[in-house]
Amino acid sequence: MLTECLIFFSACTEASEAVIDSVAVKITTFEPTRKMSTYLLAFIVSDFVPIESNQNDLLIRIWARRKAIDDGQGSYALNVTGPILRFYEHYYNTSYPLSKSDQIALPDFNAGAMENWGLVTYRETALLYDPILSSTGNKERVSTHWFLTQTWFGNLVTLRWWNDLWLNEGFASYVEYLGVDYAEPTWNIKDHIVLYDVQKVFAVDALAFSHPLSRGEEEVNEPAQISEMFNTISYSKGAAVLRMLSEFLTEPVFARGLSSYLNTFAFGNTVYTDLWDHLQQAVENAPGIHIPHSVENIMNRWTLQMGYPVVTVDTRTGSVTQKHFLLDPDSTVDRPSQFNYTWYVPIKWMKTGVQQPQYWLLQKTVSGQDWVLANTNVSGYFRVNYDPDNWDRLLSAVSIINRAQIIDDAFNLARAKIISTTLALRTTKYLSKERDYIPWESALRNLNYYILMFDRNEVYGAYLKKQIQPLFEHFKTITSNWTRVPTGHTDQYNQINAIGIACSAGVEGCRELIKSWYREWMKNPSRNPIHPNLKSTVYCYAIAFGGVAEWDFAWNMFKNATLASEASRLRSALACSKIPWLLNRYLEYTLDPTKIRKQDATSTIQNIARNVVGMPLAWNFVNARWSYIFQQYGKGSFSFSNLVSGITQRFSTEYELQELKRFKEENLSVGFGSATMALEQAIEKTTANIKWVTENKAEVQRWFAQEST
Ligand SMILES: *[C@@H]1O[C@H](CO)[C@@H](O)[C@H](O)[C@H]1NC(C)=O
Ligand SMILES: *[C@@H]1O[C@H](CO)[C@@H](O)[C@H](O)[C@H]1NC(C)=O
Ligand SMILES: *[C@@H]1O[C@H](CO)[C@@H](O)[C@H](O)[C@H]1NC(C)=O
Ligand SMILES: *[C@@H]1O[C@H](CO)[C@@H](O)[C@H](O)[C@H]1NC(C)=O
Ligand SMILES: *[C@@H]1O[C@H](CO)[C@@H](O)[C@H](O)[C@H]1NC(C)=O
Ligand SMILES: *[C@@H]1O[C@H](CO)[C@@H](O)[C@H](O)[C@H]1NC(C)=O
Ligand SMILES: *[C@@H]1O[C@H](CO)[C@@H](O)[C@H](O)[C@H]1NC(C)=O
Repeated sequence: MLTECLIFFSACTEASEAVIDSVAVKITTFEPTRKMSTYLLAFIVSDFVPIESNQNDLLIRIWARRKAIDDGQGSYALNVTGPILRFYEHYYNTSYPLSKSDQIALPDFNAGAMENWGLVTYRETALLYDPILSSTGNKERVSTHWFLTQTWFGNLVTLRWWNDLWLNEGFASYVEYLGVDYAEPTWNIKDHIVLYDVQKVFAVDALAFSHPLSRGEEEVNEPAQISEMFNTISYSKGAAVLRMLSEFLTEPVFARGLSSYLNTFAFGNTVYTDLWDHLQQAVENAPGIHIPHSVENIMNRWTLQMGYPVVTVDTRTGSVTQKHFLLDPDSTVDRPSQFNYTWYVPIKWMKTGVQQPQYWLLQKTVSGQDWVLANTNVSGYFRVNYDPDNWDRLLSAVSIINRAQIIDDAFNLARAKIISTTLALRTTKYLSKERDYIPWESALRNLNYYILMFDRNEVYGAYLKKQIQPLFEHFKTITSNWTRVPTGHTDQYNQINAIGIACSAGVEGCRELIKSWYREWMKNPSRNPIHPNLKSTVYCYAIAFGGVAEWDFAWNMFKNATLASEASRLRSALACSKIPWLLNRYLEYTLDPTKIRKQDATSTIQNIARNVVGMPLAWNFVNARWSYIFQQYGKGSFSFSNLVSGITQRFSTEYELQELKRFKEENLSVGFGSATMALEQAIEKTTANIKWVTENKAEVQRWFAQEST
């Protein structure tokens, strides 16, 4: 039922009644459409309702199902849109080009969101927030709102072809942190880019099967090739190298270059070198900024060749060298690079706690007692290795510096056999004293590799228990026996980690806590006593520790949920069961859209594969149904490749490698579409895992045993 106007790209100016061929119709007239790319066009016919506000003559509306709007779920998005748009107008020095901004939450939507101009479409979980029922994480997701940044960078100025997609998506991924930081200044959100983008893409871009950010136009033609571009490299490496560029140019110079680019090419097309040209002009007009080569020459090495360097600092000799970082040192790179895999590396560094002037490939000798830390704040897209003495000095000074970075570098250098595994493990010994979220999260992600490789023969449980126990007790105390949640944004995340890891490692009191909360809820389904922040973790462990009754209860609550983020939590938690027949039944549900929405099918299969009991079940399921799954979900999906990488992430045996190869051969006729590269990477990663487990198992077991007492 149309009420007033269609929602459309341009504002609706008039709606009138008329009769055409004896049929009563409603005529809606719109403002003239600005010049734009066709892929950005959207119009929606629905019975959804809006809430709206008017800020400096700009009409802002949030649309959703009537029930969601009546429940106030659009309020937070409406509140943050104004400030975020104002921030971007200021940042880009370009005013918002349209007279209205509509955003709409769609109940079943393949993409996460789409930046249609003036009418941005989202999944419900990305736009709707319930102040009582949603968690801090849900709020952060809604605040992110990054599709608004593409109003300028992407819509107003559009790249000529999809091969440069990284510039759009990388830009949005980087600048979203700045916008949220402006809207929610207490969250310290800018630090999160290290976890959510830089470290995330470091893992992928260290493979010999990675690919450069920028591709030739001729390489990207088929729809599947375009879909494949929507990957971690485009989003997160794009964000990481643009952040590095902004850091070495300084933020004001970077923003001036952007502004000049946007104003020059408004309502037109560009190629990425146009951006380099405008940034170059900005550098030349900024007397204080000196860079050793042109913006284009520096950036070409980061965008036209894949991968990134590990910079080795030897404090004994003062030598600094770089080398293409490959996770598997035995892998061969058969993609030649015109730059021979060397980079112009901007290095911000510290000596004994004092920030030093930036170097382009450091050439400083440091004396024996000093410790050196390079790549402060991980502002550059590279890893750092040191001589053993400096590693030791860093580890003892570790509490005052960038702990998350040191842990992530050490673990990955160990994976690449550049340093020893025990040196990497030693970076986690201080964790029993750590209370901050970012280093913990970084450590847990790295230890997760050990868990994935070894949790079919536990070797790390006792050590993890010893390290997490103090954090669990800390949160128990500051929350008065779990009766409240911490006030700090990242403390709230760390509380979730503390409970999750404590329960998995068997810390005294954790299992009982979870079970008692969940039991209370089962007794009275209309009163959920579990804090929204803790729901994902509590649901998951309650189902893992429980049986059919717990599972069926969660399933009923899932079917009944009216808030998308609540449904999403329950859907993930249902994959945590340790009972194989429940998991097999759940796998079958994923192919029935009346049970699991199409948009959620592949992510549900991945959730099941994350569970150590579910992994082989999910793998067999996907093998047997590949043809159907590919037909249903493989076409036109941006996240389809995650299915293959998610399901194979534990693969570490010769048997699994053979299965993977057989899968590739026997399903060749069906095809893999946008998962083609993910499949190659899965084979490469499995090969590396097998080698790693063989080489490290004994040493790792010995270390954990020795440190567990
Ligand atoms: C949105 O802002 C209004 C007015 O400041 C406030 O009352 C309301 O609580 C805010 N909504 C949310 C979800 O933060
Ligand atoms: C912003 O744009 C105005 C004109 O549109 C220009 O005069 C001004 O210099 C710009 N400021 C910056 C910081 O680029
Ligand atoms: C790459 O290596 C080749 C052979 O060693 C050399 O001729 C060429 O100049 C190098 N290119 C760059 C960009 O360093
Ligand atoms: C590192 O980040 C902190 C806060 O995020 C900031 O205060 C500091 O200036 C940064 N250091 C460098 C060298 O950029
Ligand atoms: C927490 O519970 C313990 C015993 O279970 C009790 O001794 C302590 O006083 C409680 N602390 C708070 C802040 O309620
Ligand atoms: C399911 O939802 C309906 C309407 O929201 C509610 O009346 C009913 O109590 C719910 N059922 C359960 C088991 O919570
Ligand atoms: C896909 O590969 C598996 C073996 O891994 C095989 O059992 C299955 O039949 C193949 N599917 C098709 C459609 O060929």
